[in-house]
Amino acid sequence: MERTLIIIKPEGVQRGLIGNVITRFEQRGLKFVGLKLIHITPELAEQHYGVHKGKGFYAGLVKHITSSPVVVGVVEGPKAITIVRTSMGATNAAEALPGTIRGDYALEIGFNIVHGSDGPETAIQEINLFFKPEELVDYS
Ligand code: RTP
Ligand code: MG
Repeated sequence: MERTLIIIKPEGVQRGLIGNVITRFEQRGLKFVGLKLIHITPELAEQHYGVHKGKGFYAGLVKHITSSPVVVGVVEGPKAITIVRTSMGATNAAEALPGTIRGDYALEIGFNIVHGSDGPETAIQEINLFFKPEELVDYS
């Protein structure tokens, strides 16, 4: 079993796609063990996107992710990290295949609707960054 962090980004919330994105993951068979709507602060955004610091798109990325509320969730399942990433589609939404979230709902890299942790270590770090242990629920 793996756990991974997903974020429905500001454009996803503003376009009314919260339900759609959650449904995609649920229908795939992944289980939500944490879920909340929050407004990311600049400090939290800098921690989350620290790996991109120094890149040309960094300032815009932080500005965008802090611009309006997002939904953050933790999903659990076998190979959850890879399954979330393949369900999201390519980072550049213009190249994302139809049938993926980005391929069905997005056109641009900067407005690609959803985030998913990119590996086991990142998943643990990101889950701990956004959720306190008591906010995650064990159930079957
Ligand atoms: P994410 O972190 O959001 O799940 O996406 P990712 O792993 O597929 O992409 P990553 O390389 O981690 O980039 C993080 C987010 O930064 C924005 N980005 N813009 N303008 C650009 O060249 C550019 N490159 C990346 C995207 O919104 C991407 O999701
Ligand atoms: Mg990433």
